Amino acid sequence: MSLYSLARPILSGLDAETAHNLTIRALALGLGPRRMEPDDPRLSVRVWGRTFTNPVGLAAGFDKNAEVYGPMSRLGLGFVEVGSITPLPQPGNPKPRLFRLTKDGAVINRMGFNNKGAAEAEKNLSRRGTLAPNALVGVNLGKNKTSEDAAEDYRIGTERLSRYADYLVVNVSSPNTPGLRALQSTEELSAILTAVKQAKQEGPTGAPPVLVKVAPDLTDEDIADLSRFATNGLEDGLMDGLIVSNTTIARPDGLRDGKMAAETGGLSGRPLFDRATEVLAAFYKQTGGAVPLIGVGGIASGADAYAKIRAGASLVQLYTALAYAGPALVTEIKRDLLRLMQADGFTRIATAIGADHNGPPG
Ligand SMILES: Cc1cc2nc3c(=O)[nH]c(=O)nc-3n(C[C@H](O)[C@H](O)[C@H](O)COP(=O)(O)O)c2cc1C
Repeated sequence: MSLYSLARPILSGLDAETAHNLTIRALALGLGPRRMEPDDPRLSVRVWGRTFTNPVGLAAGFDKNAEVYGPMSRLGLGFVEVGSITPLPQPGNPKPRLFRLTKDGAVINRMGFNNKGAAEAEKNLSRRGTLAPNALVGVNLGKNKTSEDAAEDYRIGTERLSRYADYLVVNVSSPNTPGLRALQSTEELSAILTAVKQAKQEGPTGAPPVLVKVAPDLTDEDIADLSRFATNGLEDGLMDGLIVSNTTIARPDGLRDGKMAAETGGLSGRPLFDRATEVLAAFYKQTGGAVPLIGVGGIASGADAYAKIRAGASLVQLYTALAYAGPALVTEIKRDLLRLMQADGFTRIATAIGADHNGPPG
């Protein structure tokens, strides 16, 4: 019996945030896994000049302060995204602010970028030694709640942290910081990404690519505008990809946990899958597959991860399902990805990217 399966009954009896904090403490103390199998080479994906040994990553919000990216990478993840990190430490919203919708395989959170700030993250990111061999680290940047100059906040985050990042994320899509999602407009993004470009330093694998993380609640017009912006941004060196998507403020029909569903915040997990995948596919189509995409939202199985890849994701991430199912899910997803890809006649997972739009493998 794994440590996780022993701990799960205790953790699930606690309120969600206490359980999360205990998990982080246990991982930081070295109670995570130590041995790892190398990845099957057919799972490797090369994007932004970097090799991901497998396409399955940890989404932002689990390791907000870059305290446990090493042990998390040892679960067999190809990459781990830390953050969101704001320039200054901030407490986030009052508790409770994290709610389980167990019957729906979902979570609602209104954490509000609780984190220890960029200086603390920098200290932690300078110790990459615990990382699994060849695993990569993404650094996700946010803005402080009370800051009036968003571009300046992302500039500070970039200046302090880009040198530790295999990729950088400009997160303009969390629903719990007032005004943040308005930064998804192309004018605001231009200003932010120009500041980021100027502040960027070389990371462990060269100058890190810059990705913009978007919400699933965008309109068709927003998606069209952002697709054009991202395609131009690729040429101008302003941005290199998109992460689709963050949590949703919508409450899809059919949620079974009605009482919890009424909580304010962003919904993640299974009920997010369809919308997030639809938006992902729309971005892939409208950018002609030219802008690399990370697909995230509601992945709970290999089949879900595979569906995102076929819809256009070069890489995928998850968070909520991992909290419910535990670390064995990562191995299971990778095994099922290989099986599903083979069944469709693909010899490498990378050739399945966007397959839904391209017809059968040639
Ligand atoms: C508790 C919690 C905190 C999160 N915090 C962040 C964050 O700080 N920055 C961010 O970009 N996304 C954050 N997210 C969103 C996730 O990275 C991801 O986009 C979303 O949960 C959808 O994936 P999932 O359905 O696999 O959980 C958070 C999600 C949860 C559940």
